[in-house]
Amino acid sequence: MTSRKRSPHDFIFKEELGHGSYSTVFKALDKKSPNKTYAIKVCSKKHIINEAKVKYVTIEKNTMNLLAQKNHAGIIKLYYTFHDEENLYFVLDYAPGGELLSLLHRMGTFNDLWTRHFTVQLIDALEFIHSHGIIHRDLKPENVLLDKDGRLMITDFGAAATIDSSLEKDSARCNSDGNSINDSHSCASFVGTAEYVSPELLLYNQCGYGSDIWALGCMIYQFVQGHPPFRGENELKTFEKIVALDYPWGPNKRLNNSTPAINPLVINLVRKILVVEVNERIPLKLIKRHPYFSKIDWNDKAKIWRGIWE
Ligand code: ADE
Repeated sequence: MTSRKRSPHDFIFKEELGHGSYSTVFKALDKKSPNKTYAIKVCSKKHIINEAKVKYVTIEKNTMNLLAQKNHAGIIKLYYTFHDEENLYFVLDYAPGGELLSLLHRMGTFNDLWTRHFTVQLIDALEFIHSHGIIHRDLKPENVLLDKDGRLMITDFGAAATIDSSLEKDSARCNSDGNSINDSHSCASFVGTAEYVSPELLLYNQCGYGSDIWALGCMIYQFVQGHPPFRGENELKTFEKIVALDYPWGPNKRLNNSTPAINPLVINLVRKILVVEVNERIPLKLIKRHPYFSKIDWNDKAKIWRGIWE
């Protein structure tokens, strides 16, 4: 990295990769090293101000900056930020495999091998995020991208919160609100996505590491069932199902005839995660010791971070 501030002119912008309410992500090449491909998130200043998103963009920048210094394989890295009159720019790792959600839609469901592979990487990345006092708060298969070998990379820290803030005041809103219970904090407004939101946020306006673990449980369920566990006709009905722990275990949707039944250990694990009372929800360190992962050596990072189709 050079010390000179970079600018949009240093990059060749290619096709759009995706967009959100106030940002668009483009594939981009670095003019100085054209073999290096990035994803550049372009955030419109006008939209950010009009839609009162300044706080979220600041959180995203500070959180990603902090995590980028530590360089974890499972987290999209932020390389540079800069701005011009119209936009803010985040230069990020490019994940050529696209969203995990798209892969899941193409496959219907994941088999046991793929479910364990993605779950192990999610747990390792999530443990890393939490070890830095960060709660992601919007984990879902759209926010998990894939590299060229099928390693996952967590992205979109715009809804993140910090437990023990070493970041700027703005990003520590959850902290400064006080009202802390264990590692949970009072959150002034609903963030995240209806299907993956935790019961403690809906019931008590609390979020903590357990809220990310809840979303992890929803994702593991989705890997084997093909859809998230809680889905109503509208957000309110989805929320009612979440707090009532009303979710079905249907047959595996995979259509080919060699479909094995869902591994009972996955069902057991999901049941231990999807527990409404946050203090009774299994924590990450016990998830790692669950029999579903009996053959996983959590210290063998090279093996954990092997690509699935390399
Ligand atoms: N879509 C959104 N962010 C992306 C990224 N970093 N790489 C590839 N596609 C994306």
